[in-house]
Amino acid sequence: METADYIREINRLKKEKNAVILAHYYQTSDIQDVADYIGDSLGLSQEAAKTEADMIVFAGVRFMAETAKILSPSKKVVLPDINAGCSLEESAPADKFIAFKAQHPDAVVISYVNCSAELKTLTDIVCTSTNAIKIVESVPKDKEIIFAPDKNLGGYINRVTGRNMILWDGACMVHEAFSAKLISDLKEKHPNASIIAHPESEEPVLELADYIGSTTGLLKHTINSPEKEFIVATESGILHQMRLASPDKMFHVAPTAKNGHACIACSDCPHMKLNTMEKLYACLRDESPEILLSEEVIEKARKPIDLMLEISA
Ligand code: 13P
Ligand code: SF4
Repeated sequence: METADYIREINRLKKEKNAVILAHYYQTSDIQDVADYIGDSLGLSQEAAKTEADMIVFAGVRFMAETAKILSPSKKVVLPDINAGCSLEESAPADKFIAFKAQHPDAVVISYVNCSAELKTLTDIVCTSTNAIKIVESVPKDKEIIFAPDKNLGGYINRVTGRNMILWDGACMVHEAFSAKLISDLKEKHPNASIIAHPESEEPVLELADYIGSTTGLLKHTINSPEKEFIVATESGILHQMRLASPDKMFHVAPTAKNGHACIACSDCPHMKLNTMEKLYACLRDESPEILLSEEVIEKARKPIDLMLEISA
């Protein structure tokens, strides 16, 4: 089928099934264009919690669809490709985390939403990149904190808040590929460009950044800032909304490197990009693959997510 056929069929099925399509900014442009709501991790969870639809088609990765299921357990939640994981989620298997947690029995556990539902059951408060600083600051200063699974986001929060959280050793495979050296070279060619970065990036990249924020933060910054040119250190999918919102401005994807060599495709998340229009259409039509979680996991994982939504309201 052609793109126009997918769009027509997806819109027809959406109405017929009272379904809603929630898409993350890192999805491909065609998927973003057919979505009912496009957002960052926090916005998508808030939308999942309040939707009146019977079915949520989650155009994103598994941990996001699981969060939607935890917040709306009576609704059917489907994901176009069930293999759409996340390197951060993979870095923190529950059994290893239990052993880690046991070494710090008095610590409050704050987990970045980019983790499995099982890890959330072992967590006191969940956070996203939008509310992470607020969530960390809600914990009394004398309390020890374990922050999992993103060491780069955790390190950034430590530097901003002056805390000394114990960090789990995980990283986003996309954000850790941004190269401070190549970004500096690009800035030399475009001296008027402002460098903006997601806090999942490594410290040397964040040090170069004129603005650091979540995907929604970055998008809003490009709209509100008088600057006309940006080097963007986050997954390339976000540039679609940036260009739509500010057609008069210029956007460059920050350059990435792997094993010391420039890497063109490393700013595309291989998990996010598993979803395609064809799979989106098929999962809406077949109502599969479906996210299924046990009642026990839903109940336990919901508490730290609800706490996050309460604190960040
Ligand atoms: P946000 O959507 O919270 O900015 O996080 C980005 C991300 O890594 C999603 O996988
Ligand atoms: Fe995970 Fe990074 Fe992909 Fe987001 S961009 S889903 S954090 S691997």
